[in-house]
Amino acid sequence: MATLFQFIKPWRGPIPLGFALRVRDASLSAGREAFVWVRWEVKELEGSILEFDSGRAQAKLAGSGQPWITLKAAVTLDGKIATAAGESKWITGEAARRVGHELRALHDAVLVGINTVLADDPRLTVRLAGKIPSPARIVLDSRGRLPEDSKFLAHDGCRKFVIVGRRAPLDRIERLRNAGATVFPCDTDLPMPEQFFPWLKDQGLETILVEGGGSVHGGLIAAGLADELFLFISGRVIGDPTAPGWCGELGLNRLSDTPRISLSPPRSLGQDILIHGLFQNDGLPSTDPVVED
Ligand SMILES: NC(=O)c1ccc[n+]([C@@H]2O[C@H](COP(=O)([O-])OP(=O)(O)OC[C@H]3O[C@@H](n4cnc5c(N)ncnc54)[C@H](OP(=O)(O)O)[C@@H]3O)[C@@H](O)[C@H]2O)c1
Repeated sequence: MATLFQFIKPWRGPIPLGFALRVRDASLSAGREAFVWVRWEVKELEGSILEFDSGRAQAKLAGSGQPWITLKAAVTLDGKIATAAGESKWITGEAARRVGHELRALHDAVLVGINTVLADDPRLTVRLAGKIPSPARIVLDSRGRLPEDSKFLAHDGCRKFVIVGRRAPLDRIERLRNAGATVFPCDTDLPMPEQFFPWLKDQGLETILVEGGGSVHGGLIAAGLADELFLFISGRVIGDPTAPGWCGELGLNRLSDTPRISLSPPRSLGQDILIHGLFQNDGLPSTDPVVED
């Protein structure tokens, strides 16, 4: 697998934009380096405040073989994504929820943990004016607990992926396949992102929007695989330490070990606020990759 070595230079000419990456790869002979040209494309949706910089995603793919991972959550001011009783609809207002749909439209797939499906039975589709296609759906579900009548498995033309662990019962896998899902069995008890993300990339899914819950977000941040963050913050406080937060346990004691996220200026969305940031994972560009000539 190629390792991102150095950003060379952005191309500043007319569209299509792009930049070169110098990569190291064990399979390369002389000098063990090669240049990869990455196309730089900014995807936009009409009327949206969002734009998706596919150049960054392509750079990550070329460097590590992993898809671009965007985390998204609707949270209260105290960082909670649901009450202790499990109520999460709706923490934010309509304007924030619209941008959430736009985020889905800009990604190849939406990924959630099984607890989110069991708690909320989300559709995970794009519901915007016009015929905007919905992304593929992915659930992390070690034991194959996904109910066959869940909206996740709706026959709506979207591809559906269930990532299970090695102990998932074979009859459950069979049932999920019969219900229209593609099942990927990992060889660990808990599906490991380092294993299933490259496989998902091979299925053509290069950008993945992770919509929680906190356990899945936390696992991806701890693994250094989260790239981008969208937090929709409402002016509410749940104030219950047992209510779930947007980021599960990272197991860190020192502030100096905590992941850094470079934040953009916050934006207002109706009564809510949108916080956007890029994770500063080692070896990858966390800001616009402009390199001096
Ligand atoms: N406000 C929001 O934006 C929002 C969004 C989403 C969810 N929520 C709320 O969040 C709550 C659920 O969050 P949660 O943290 O309990 O659960 P979750 O993140 O939805 O799911 C966690 C479960 O996923 C499975 N899993 C499989 N592989 C995993 C991996 N590599 N990393 C992490 N999990 C993996 C595990 O169950 P198995 O061992 O059974 O596989 C794990 O317990 C619900 O109350 C829901 O309403 C809110």
